[in-house]
Parts: sequence; structure tokens; C-alpha cells
Amino acid sequence: MCGIIGYTGTASAVDVLIEGLATLEYRGYDSAGVAVVTGNGDPRVRVVKRAGKLANLREMLEGTWLDGTTGVGHTRWATHGEPSDRNSHPHQDADGDLAIIHNGIFENFAELRAGLAADGHEFASDTDTEVIAHLIGRSYDDAGVGGDGADGAVALAGAVRTALRRVEGAFAIAVVDRRSPDTIVASRREAPLVLGHLDGASLLSSDVAGLIRYTRDVEALLDDQVAILTPEGITVTDLDGNTTEGHRYTVDWDIDVAEKQGYPHFMLKEIHEQPGALHETLLGRTRDGRIVLDEQRLDDDDFRHLDKVYVVACGTSYHAGMVAKYALEHWARVPVEVEIASEFRYRDPILTQHTLVVAISQSGETADTLAAAAHARAQRARVVAISNVVGSSLAREADAVLYTRAGPEIAVASTKAFTTQILALELLALFLAQLRRAMFPDEWRDQLRRMETLPDLMEQVFGQETAIRQLAASVAHASYVMFIGRQVGLPIALEGALKLKEISYLHAEGFPAGEMKHGPIALIEQGGPVVALATAGHVRGKIVSNIAEVKARGAMVVAIATEGDTEIKAHADHVIYVPDVHELLYPMLTVVPLQLLAYFIATELGCDVDQPRNLAKTVTVE
Ligand code: M6R
Repeated sequence: MCGIIGYTGTASAVDVLIEGLATLEYRGYDSAGVAVVTGNGDPRVRVVKRAGKLANLREMLEGTWLDGTTGVGHTRWATHGEPSDRNSHPHQDADGDLAIIHNGIFENFAELRAGLAADGHEFASDTDTEVIAHLIGRSYDDAGVGGDGADGAVALAGAVRTALRRVEGAFAIAVVDRRSPDTIVASRREAPLVLGHLDGASLLSSDVAGLIRYTRDVEALLDDQVAILTPEGITVTDLDGNTTEGHRYTVDWDIDVAEKQGYPHFMLKEIHEQPGALHETLLGRTRDGRIVLDEQRLDDDDFRHLDKVYVVACGTSYHAGMVAKYALEHWARVPVEVEIASEFRYRDPILTQHTLVVAISQSGETADTLAAAAHARAQRARVVAISNVVGSSLAREADAVLYTRAGPEIAVASTKAFTTQILALELLALFLAQLRRAMFPDEWRDQLRRMETLPDLMEQVFGQETAIRQLAASVAHASYVMFIGRQVGLPIALEGALKLKEISYLHAEGFPAGEMKHGPIALIEQGGPVVALATAGHVRGKIVSNIAEVKARGAMVVAIATEGDTEIKAHADHVIYVPDVHELLYPMLTVVPLQLLAYFIATELGCDVDQPRNLAKTVTVE
């Protein structure tokens, strides 16, 4: 949830940290802060932090001289303690020798805090993080082996290891200490942390986007590893101090992908990147006449003999999973249940070695999805990950991986991740269909060919952007917007509503169109907007009846329909057309006008589109 960054080298640390935090701000923006080791002869750790967005910290730093070449920075999504200056990170230990930044939650912090308080420790904040700062500080003092320079670094790493052995929960942390002025000690458990290797400097970040300006040579730290960063390089140990290594790899995308490139918001840029992202996701998917996954640590027989699929995910990824159910059941002929990841493991699902769990996560770091996948593996079920981040925690822990190749998604509202997830999931359905002989080869090849036309077809949808913008202006001041759909139109109705509510704060709900008359239709007011997914297919006639029902009660209907369907105009006040495709491919086209509608409504209302209130991009807490 929070973003963390660290730098040690020869450049001004604060400049590198602020630049990194700007890239990571999408992860949380309740506050921002830095800690820099300053002063040559008598080093001190200086902390500057401020509630609110990074702009507030920048303003504060303008009048502050923070020289120093080692430091850490943090952008916060609040968990323990309200967003305020005093709860902002970094936090310091009792003597102010060290400062720590943290992403995650220390679950046993209350017990640790009580123990420290009984020994006379006083706390300046309500956070769990400050408790760990004190714990590390005390471990350092108790060890009694401190010293300056290299000795200090050894002592600090030892103190971090000792403290971490006592904590429970999920975390990524980075610590600087005045007694080892050019060292950062970092660690993680179930929260992302990536290290950057380069000549004369070392970096760390919550994600690769924070490092890519400086290096492509990165190393994902693994659970309970401790990294010691100095300008000369990085060493990694386990919690007992034994040397080990993380997952080192080379990043293959450029920094300009993570910048706005002339668009007013990342969200609009990412909506427009979807045709390219679909194209990338499709590349090289067949080898020797077979559909292939990116990583497969399972035998083909494991897939052939599965008897049940669970799809687990959160938010927008969950909606992609709902679409996948139709494709997996229809093409691969296997029963599928789709479940919210945060509910999955608490109801004791029936899992065997013949169960396949498909875990979907753009970031690959969502705590609930990771926990659901871990629960499935513990019960011997097989796990396939669909993720947009190569080497993410989810990808590393799964038995097989299919990557979406959407490139970094920065806007909190997920768009290109969603359409590429649907495509990847439908590829997985074809892969299973092929192995299980549920489709003839020419059938799955036909489907692949249809998928290849999607990028061009999606470009055509953008032709209606101006009309959608005008429609948005007329809908923006409504008191609610309803979305209705059937079959694959239902997850798109839910996704359209989620997109709208999360960035415009307008009350929006999606409903199965057939359910309207069982309750929700009571909400319809004269002129109230209802967006209906009404593309061609075997439920088109049914949805037209549902449109008539809401229209008869005064709704203002916007229909998303198939090009050439002129008859729909008799039922709807506005029609947005998408090209004609196979029924199961429609979701990738019909969601685009809904993403644009949400975007233009939010901008019409003056909302902060890329960083909506109360949210963060990556949800690494349960
Ligand atoms: O990284 P993930 O795909 O696991 O994230 C899941 C949700 O948090 C995410 O899709 C969220 O719902 C988006 N903000 C919606 O736009």
C-alpha cells in the first residue's frame, strides 16, 4: 500500500528519493517523508515529513538544507493512525539514532509496544512502525557491539534481524542509522521490495518503476531476507545472517512507459494503451502447434485431470475472473467458481490435487490474493497466476504463470490490466481446452485468430470518445448511475460501476439485468441514468426486455450495442457502438466506453482521477 524508496551512493539522496516518491505516489498519498544521513564528521539522521500529498513535502523541503548521499523515503496509505504529520514515516527510535520506513502491518505491535512502554519507551505516533523503530534501536543497544562505519553496518543488520524475529505480520522496511552513514538495511515479508544494482550506488523500491531511471539490473528480495545496501554493492542474508540471494533479473521496459507522455492523466493514457497491451499479451502464445504458458512447473497431466477450477481475485481482477468463468466452462468444459480472494480461505473450500486455483492480480502483491493462493497450495491444489508483474510474489509462488503484458499501470483505477487479464484468462481457457481435448484444433485456432483482431477493433471504439465525453457531461450531476448486464455483460456492468464510483465518488451500482425487478428497480427515478450492456448474442433479446422495464419507470438509458444494431435506438436514449465480435470477446471492447465514461465524469466533477481518495494502487494489507 505504501511506497518505499532508498538510495545510497554519491548523488544527493533527497533528489533521488523525491523523484522516486513521485513515481511511487500511486501506492498511497496520505503523507510523505524522507530521512537522510547528514553531516560528515558527526553524522545525524534528519527526518522531514508532512501529511498530505508529496507536493506538501516538496514545499517543506524547499526551505530545508538536506545534504547527504544516503537516505530513505516513504509515501503512506494509512493503516495505524490517522493521516497526520506525526504519523507520517520515517519514524525514529528512542535515541533518534536510526529512522525506518515501512509498508505493511506489524500485527503484534500492540504487545510489543506495551513491553517497550513498560521499560520506559515513549512514542510520538500511533503507528506500528514506530514500535519497530524502538525495537530495532533497543536490539542494537542490547547487542553492545555497535561501532562506526563497517562495524556499524554489521551491528545495524544484526539489530534488524533480532527485531524481525519478534514481529508478526507483513512488511517491507528500510532503515538508516547515523552510526553507519552510508548503509541501508532492508527486509521484507509478504510485501514487495526490489533492490537496484548499479556502479557506485545501490537502491531499493517497492516496485521496479521506482528504480528504472537508474538501473535495469534488479533483485526482488524474498521473504525474511535482509539486504545490506552500500554504495559498493548489496549483500543479502537470511534472518540468521547466512549469505543468500534474492531473485535477480533484468527489466525489459523503459521509463517512458511509466510517464504520462502528454496525456492529462495516467488513466486516460492507460485506457488508450489497451490495443497495444492486448497485442503484446497475444505475442508468441503458440509453440509447435500448442498454446503455451509463460512459466509452467506442472505436467500437462495435472491440467488434464483437474476436475474443478476456482478463480480468486479482488476488485477489478475479480471482474476479469467473472468473465473467465464463461470461457473456461464453455471452451475447456470444466466447472468454475469465482470467488473474492478475501473470503476464499475463511470458508474452508474443498481443494484437492485435482483442483486448479487461478489467482489473478495485476500487481501480484495483493495480500488477500496471495493468501488465497497460499491456502490453495497448502491443500495441494495447483495454482496458476495471472499477473502483470514479472517476478511478483504471486508469480513466484504459483505452479504456472501467464503474464499480462500491459506494461506498468500507474493510475489507481485499473484499465489496461483488466482487458489484458481477460485476454490472458481466455488464452488459459484455450490452453486447457486443448490439453483436455474439449475443442478441435481448428476451433481454438479460430478463436486465437479472432483474438488477434481485437487491437484493431478496440481502436475503432475510440472513435466515439467525443460523444462519450459529451454524454459524461450530462450524466455527471446525476445522484446515481446504474449498470445492468447479463452473461458476460454482467461483469462489465459491475466493472463499469466500480470504475465510476472509485474515481468520481458518484454512487454507482452494477446489477444482473434480470434481477432488477426483484428489488433494485425501486431505485429508478425520472431521468436516472441506466447503462445497459446490450451487444449481440443469445441474451440480447432478454436485455432489451430489461431495458424496456427500466425505461417504463423513467430511466434514461445508455445502451452499449453492436455496430449495425439500429433497432436498439428505439429502446435507448443514447447508443454507444462497439464492433461485432465473438460473444466471449465482447467484454474487452464493451468495457472501454465505460472506462471513458467514468474518466470523463470524474474530470467533469474535478476529481483527482489518478489518485482517488482513500485508495491505493496495491493493497498489501488484508
Ligand atoms: O493488483 P490487483 O489486481 O490484485 O488489485 C486488485 C484490486 O485492488 C484492484 O483491481 C482495484 O479494484 C482497482 N483499483 C480497481 O480499479
